[in-house]
Amino acid sequence: MLIDSYDRVVDYLRVSVTERCNFRCQYCMPEKPFSWVPKENLLSFEELFEFMKVAIDEGVKKIRITGGEPLLREDLDKFIKMIYDYEPSIDLAMTTNAFLLKGTAQRLKDAGLKRINVSIDTLIPQVAKDISGKDVLKNVLEGVDEALKVGLKVKVNMVPMKTVNAQEIVDVLEYCKARGMSIRFIEYMENKFAKEGIAGLKSKELLEILSEKYSFEDEGFDGSSPSHYYKMDDGYKFGIIEPYEDDFCKKCNRIRLTAEGNLIPCLYFDEAMSIAESVKRGDIKGAAAVLKEVVRTKPEKNRWGGEDGEVSSRAFYETGG
Ligand code: 5AD
Ligand code: SF4
Repeated sequence: MLIDSYDRVVDYLRVSVTERCNFRCQYCMPEKPFSWVPKENLLSFEELFEFMKVAIDEGVKKIRITGGEPLLREDLDKFIKMIYDYEPSIDLAMTTNAFLLKGTAQRLKDAGLKRINVSIDTLIPQVAKDISGKDVLKNVLEGVDEALKVGLKVKVNMVPMKTVNAQEIVDVLEYCKARGMSIRFIEYMENKFAKEGIAGLKSKELLEILSEKYSFEDEGFDGSSPSHYYKMDDGYKFGIIEPYEDDFCKKCNRIRLTAEGNLIPCLYFDEAMSIAESVKRGDIKGAAAVLKEVVRTKPEKNRWGGEDGEVSSRAFYETGG
């Protein structure tokens, strides 16, 4: 079992398979980065899989594939199948912008994928274009429908922003509810790569908007999920992710791997250790040692909302959020 120095069990690994993305979301990658990681520095699926085995053997129970946009990487279903075949009980999920899901959802499901998280920040085509840099809404919604049709569980993320999509909070919630998808509102997390001047809604403001229309109860937290849940009168639950809250990191169980093999103990900080050399050499013990060291050095808390007004210099497209 992997346990950090604050007694948190680390059993959730997020794997970014590419930092590239076909969207340019305001809050993540409004501009194409100055340079991408050169292709030759990316770990192959075989190399990544070597590390997945190490992580699973050390106690990882949940693996989420992220990006950038993971579906930009060819043969992703084969990578999913490698993990599934090694340990079918792994909770195998993916975060995707859903643009390329239509036509691939069935293959991903057949390979062993169980769940996906997608962003639906708006239901208005022009707003979707403003947020993501291109006309994406139709493909996204069709992709989501197809994922539901093939039996993938779908969770929706919405980042509510003042003057952009705040007026659609109820509409997006209703859209998800009608389709049996859960929704989580994510407070905008400031980072050096986002567009300047984004004003995210804080959970208090969001709850005020929702309480004009619904009544709901505070359900608190569920396991190690970072979501604060609320239950509406009809039983439907929505979540809010509040990284600025003081106790947000208390139950954090996750570490992240970038596409070039840097293992990151916390989304907020720059610290990382590479597993690339070890997996390329086939040095399983070496990779396990790096994993344990990264878990050992996992910081107690992020610094969003810290007094010094510091902003994270980690790119979301590198770590997959
Ligand atoms: N703040 C909050 N959420 C973000 N995401 C990406 N960038 C940010 C940010 N700056 C979320 C999006 C997307 C997921 C991959 O990460 O909601 O669904
Ligand atoms: Fe948007 Fe996700 Fe791509 Fe970032 S990685 S630009 S959040 S679609």
